[in-house]
Amino acid sequence: MTSPYYLTTPIYYVNAKPHLGHAYTTIIGDALARWHRLLGEDVHYLTGTDEHGLKIQQAADAAGKTPQQFTDEIAPQFQEAWRRLGISNDDFIRTTEARHKVGVQQLLQACYDAGDIELDVYAGKYCVACEEYYSDEELLEGDLCPIHKRTVEYFEEENYFFRLSRFQDRLLDWYAAHPGAIVPEFRGNEALGLIRGGLRDFSVSRTSLQWGIPLPWDPKHVAYVWFDALANYITAVGYGTDQERFEQWWPARHLIGKDIIRHHCVYWPAMLLSAGIEPPAGWAVGGWLLVGGEKMSKTSGNVVNPLDLIDDVGVDGFRYYVLADTTYGHDGDFTYEGLIGRYNSDLANNLGNLLSRVATVVGKKCDGVGPAPRTDSPLAEAAASAWEGTATGWAEVQPNRALEATWSLIRATNAYLEANEPWKAEPGAEVDAVMGDALEALRIVAILASPALPSTCQTVWERIGLPGRVSDQRLPDAAAWGAYPGGVSVVKGDPLFPRK
Ligand code: MSP
Repeated sequence: MTSPYYLTTPIYYVNAKPHLGHAYTTIIGDALARWHRLLGEDVHYLTGTDEHGLKIQQAADAAGKTPQQFTDEIAPQFQEAWRRLGISNDDFIRTTEARHKVGVQQLLQACYDAGDIELDVYAGKYCVACEEYYSDEELLEGDLCPIHKRTVEYFEEENYFFRLSRFQDRLLDWYAAHPGAIVPEFRGNEALGLIRGGLRDFSVSRTSLQWGIPLPWDPKHVAYVWFDALANYITAVGYGTDQERFEQWWPARHLIGKDIIRHHCVYWPAMLLSAGIEPPAGWAVGGWLLVGGEKMSKTSGNVVNPLDLIDDVGVDGFRYYVLADTTYGHDGDFTYEGLIGRYNSDLANNLGNLLSRVATVVGKKCDGVGPAPRTDSPLAEAAASAWEGTATGWAEVQPNRALEATWSLIRATNAYLEANEPWKAEPGAEVDAVMGDALEALRIVAILASPALPSTCQTVWERIGLPGRVSDQRLPDAAAWGAYPGGVSVVKGDPLFPRK
């Protein structure tokens, strides 16, 4: 039995086109999903779009479209963006799909039957961009939303409430029994701080809005968009439609941004506990990728389209930058200079140069046939520690550390070639031994780097004469020193990453 690994991204609001901020989490998820497939786990990687609520309704109004028409136009743009970025998601959920509506209603009903959803009157200040009520203490001066810095709206309506206030102890107990469920640790502490700070009931329905899923027991109310949205993680794998499938995958591991900790780490496990469902298996919380020190958003007008960047540095060049240049959990700053700098140093000068010089020397000194590595190669130790560091980095959801470890093997191999200078030596056993070692290191690099650079690594794999797909390799065995067979043709080809 292979173990299931169910991974999710947040589902993105369709009031805007996909931007770099969305691509950030989706690429990290993709690399993680690919890594876990290499580990032989049964991976299910889910992403999708969040299509209900006031924010979308207003965006559709502004565009002169019905919300359905509007979302039908934007959702495919997300699918297309992910296709172009090489995202290997196994499913894509839209909250306007029938399977989702059925599951949301079942979840609402389960919480209602448990007595945790009750009718009440609500009056308060609401930020439409957050789809969230704020207390006066939380608002900035002039009644501005602390995240969007825009004026909140005053709402007064009869709402159903989820009795979150009853869950403080249960949540604290659950987290105490599951240490490390949220990574990085300081983000976990933020979540615990929110719970310890006291929990307010939150409204789970609206009567002022049409664009949503009706409550099964009182259909003049539609479900609050966050209740609806969070449920995607269970409805996508069969909750409400296919119980057996649901049990096969749930619980999930969630990738989220730091701005949605409250919803994911407080509301969501409480909703699940209420409905008698196990909380998630884990959360990894990322910071923001800032542009000029600001969070990218339609409102700030600093939106970077990832698809423009792949024209400059290729899909893998862009993916590598996103993964290698930020420390997951903390904010990162996107700069074009940083993108080109990483591309030139790590990809063109390190990986690209290694393949090119290996293929050149094998062409000139070994008749284009790759020799086998030595079992006691001086590079074997570098390879073993690269594997260990890479595995630890991905396990801790620290892509930059994983890649740093992989790149340590690339650097060690380049240094090994420079020390031995096989290009100056006469063909013979010594050159063969050095080149066999370098090819074996490249084989291991191609596997370890493939979650970040899937298509480049497949090219490396083929150029060094290996059959089949690099994604079909299985770790840890495939990373053990010595599997490069030798006797296969090595092809030079065009530069992997032409210098910019
Ligand atoms: N629809 C909700 C999530 C519902 S999940 C059940 C939502 N959507 S969003 O499109 O506004 O943002 C989705 C995620 O993208 C959030 O985690 C947010 O942090 C992340 N990002 C949006 N802009 C970002 C950056 N500039 N940088 C990194 N991530 C950011 O919230």
